[in-house]
Amino acid sequence: MSLTPPGSTIGIVGGGQLGRMLARAASRMGYKTHIYTPDKDSPASHVATTTTIGAYQDTTALRAFGQSVDVVTFEFENIPAETLEMLDSIVTVRPKPSVLFTTRHRLREKEFIRAQGIATAPFAPVRSNEELAEAIKTIGVPCVLKTTEMGYDGKGQVVIKSLEDAVVAWVALGKTECILEGFIDFSAEASVIVARSTLGEARCYPLVQNIHRDHILHKTIAPAPFIDTHQAQATQIAKTLAEALDVVGLLAVEMFVTEQGLLVNELAPRPHNSGHWTMEGAPTGQFEQHIRAICGWALGDTTAHRPCEMVNLLGDDWQLWQEYAKQPEAHVHLYGKTDSRPGRKMGHVTIIRRN
Ligand SMILES: Nc1ncnc2c1ncn2[C@@H]1O[C@H](COP(=O)(O)OP(=O)(O)O)[C@@H](O)[C@H]1O
Ligand SMILES: [Mg+2]
Repeated sequence: MSLTPPGSTIGIVGGGQLGRMLARAASRMGYKTHIYTPDKDSPASHVATTTTIGAYQDTTALRAFGQSVDVVTFEFENIPAETLEMLDSIVTVRPKPSVLFTTRHRLREKEFIRAQGIATAPFAPVRSNEELAEAIKTIGVPCVLKTTEMGYDGKGQVVIKSLEDAVVAWVALGKTECILEGFIDFSAEASVIVARSTLGEARCYPLVQNIHRDHILHKTIAPAPFIDTHQAQATQIAKTLAEALDVVGLLAVEMFVTEQGLLVNELAPRPHNSGHWTMEGAPTGQFEQHIRAICGWALGDTTAHRPCEMVNLLGDDWQLWQEYAKQPEAHVHLYGKTDSRPGRKMGHVTIIRRN
């Protein structure tokens, strides 16, 4: 049986805010945490039991980290595949590295989603000038050119209106491997988070609506106003994908809401920004749920008990804590980052709605 008992140490690869909130949840449940990150003074290091600062290619440091923990998880996607493979040869990694192999690469990810019979935007690979011209012909304009790897918060993607645009955009993206996607005229963006246990039990959180500004999540409304129309399909999609990937832990599914139903945009096998509301709005917050799943516990209740709005505090907006501090229904989370660049996720606030 794969129960990791309290007192054990959970290794977390990545030191950002997701690692910080995972470490807090783990600590409450009696676990120690050990963060592995290349960054000094990382948000997670402020609350973890131990931190190793090391490069993802530093096999000596990674081996020592792997040997010092009882289970490993990760808090972001852009970890080199070899890093997780190496850790997996020493200690159980959850979710397993093959999950990340599929979800960190936009082409593999969309091919996988489609292979499960689940709808996505139309897409085509772009690895040469010929493929680019061919892709524009098949998909048409407007469309979106995205690098297959390393993109986040809208980085590494360009909206295209003509073949000429596409050529310029591809050069600007460094002529690296890309995916061209049809531009979806969605009525809303939504996401759902499913947790899957070591026993294959799966539980979904309610569907939420996500409002982006400049491609970065601005606000999450939980539950989504359109929950009654789309929850059943969202749950079905999320459970199918989590099962097919054999995820242990969380899987976040970002979707576009269209007249034809939901289209899956991308997957993240980890806690997700659009799930932060669960810390106040659901009996089991997403961070606790991830720890429960990877440590072999039964999954907690995911029913929303309070409708919420979660607003990201980007850049200098973190100073709004002073306003929110006056509001009893506002729960401020700040990540301990000292350098507030525009667009940087400095914190978030969850506001309990009164309806
Ligand atoms: N095919 C598309 N059609 C319309 N809008 C898109 C499309 N792909 C991405 N977007 C917009 O850009 C945002 C970011 O894209 P996404 O693929 O989620 O990348 P990431 O979140 O990793 O930066 C989406 O939330 C959506 O608002
Ligand atoms: Mg996204």
